[in-house]
Amino acid sequence: MQHETTVTVPGAGNRQMCIDGAWVDSIDGERFDSIDPATGQPLGSVPRGRAADVDRAVAAARRAFDTGRWGQAVSERSRAEVLHRMAALVRDRRDDLARLEVLDCGKPFADAQADIDEVAFMFDYYAGWATKITGDIPPVGPDAMSLVVREPVGVCGLIVPWNYPMLMAAQKVAPALAAGCTVVLKPAEQTPLTALQMAEIALDAGVPDGVFNVVTGFGVEAGEPMLTDPRVDKISFTGSLAVGRHIQRTCAESLKRVTLELGGKSPNIVFADAPMPQAVAGTCLGVFGNQGEVCSAGSRVLVQRSIYEAFVGALVAESESIRLGSGLDPLTTMGPLVSAAQMDRVRGYIDGAPADGARLVHAGRRPDDPALAGGFFVPPMIFEVDDQRPRIAREEIFGPVMTVIPFDDDGDALRLAHDTDYGLAAAIWTSDIGRAMRTARAVRAGVVWVNDSQPAPSEAMWGGYKQSGVGRELGPYALDSYLESKQIYINLGQ
Ligand code: NAI
Ligand code: MG
Repeated sequence: MQHETTVTVPGAGNRQMCIDGAWVDSIDGERFDSIDPATGQPLGSVPRGRAADVDRAVAAARRAFDTGRWGQAVSERSRAEVLHRMAALVRDRRDDLARLEVLDCGKPFADAQADIDEVAFMFDYYAGWATKITGDIPPVGPDAMSLVVREPVGVCGLIVPWNYPMLMAAQKVAPALAAGCTVVLKPAEQTPLTALQMAEIALDAGVPDGVFNVVTGFGVEAGEPMLTDPRVDKISFTGSLAVGRHIQRTCAESLKRVTLELGGKSPNIVFADAPMPQAVAGTCLGVFGNQGEVCSAGSRVLVQRSIYEAFVGALVAESESIRLGSGLDPLTTMGPLVSAAQMDRVRGYIDGAPADGARLVHAGRRPDDPALAGGFFVPPMIFEVDDQRPRIAREEIFGPVMTVIPFDDDGDALRLAHDTDYGLAAAIWTSDIGRAMRTARAVRAGVVWVNDSQPAPSEAMWGGYKQSGVGRELGPYALDSYLESKQIYINLGQ
């Protein structure tokens, strides 16, 4: 497949954003380009939303909530039907959405298709929940009755990143709408296009005006105003630790509900009795999948000393089979990074690593296709470290960079695993069920994989310990985070 010129793909080109059920430009008319990272060329442009635009969107979401266009004033069944229709429309438009995602963020087409399939599933999954949000009747003695009912939190500001643009948006939008909230979605400035397609799908599916709004723009201009707006009840954010901390601090002022899904520096622990070759393939996928732009990447690879040399050799061999290129080329297994800025950031880590005490053991190659010469490609890199002091072994890189370090026994593995401020995920590779479960329970992380790396089923749960976040997403846990509880006490006395 040729790397196509962009305008032929539905959803590319010059777009408007969606406020109160209408397609609009920004109030001051300013726009910015979204870039195709495989070529460095513009793919389309979107409005540059700022405070005045956020104001309009929040007002629309507030009005839609307060006048009962959604939420409690609408039957749960009709909410479920609308969400099921959204799922069906995502499925109908699957390959167009996947192509748009590839062109906007760089990932391989098959990976984008998998993202879009999960988006469709998520809308169906949460559609199912819309009719199953029940309360409680706690016993309060013979003369009274107490009902605990669940109600939507209200207006939600949803701020999402660029690594899984439509999937991260759906992960917040689907449970928020199922719970009865109204939303303002702020996609990442690098990847705004599939969020706008989601708005189109929402309108086509019958989501009432103002219930689902999208404001495109930069973080400080189009995200920040939601943090201080008193009409916003909740912020759900996925992104960097620095911005997450700022959001928590800013939202404390009005005590908005906050869910944060932040970064990680997750350990991938390979015991000598690990099942091979799955451990090799899974370890590589855990760091190099999605170009390494994954919050839960198992970028710290800890390997038991008795198999260390052989395992590192196998990792290098596996990495050599990774082929960089356009995400639209079916032979591509790794695309470009999302932006020039991200490429420079990742290269900075790589260039600084040797002086910081890390030894390079493998460096992949950029694609040689001249059409991709302006693309933001960084090939897979494997470094060995003797301890976890080097920056590449401590900081989230969000690129295809692996560090490998040997350990002696289970206690040593846990000590290394815990030597981080993060606690999002961990992978454990062993054939011993007892060791697997002991380690899984001891690891301070929100998600632990045994003999696998990276699956994130929408029905399960997602979220971090320590500085990897606040709150939980996916499954019924996400739904909870868009609901308030209310106690209604009824005096039954004469
Ligand atoms: P970022 O945290 O700045 O961006 C994520 C989202 O937050 C974007 O939509 C952005 O516009 C918005 N944002 C930025 N500043 C904001 C503010 N003051 N108020 C409200 N919204 C704001 O992340 P960035 O700069 O794109 O990537 C830098 C690093 O962050 C990456 O290299 C990676 O380490 C980490 N990151 C982690 C992600 C995760 O899934 N945990 C996702 C994206 C980035
Ligand atoms: Mg882009």
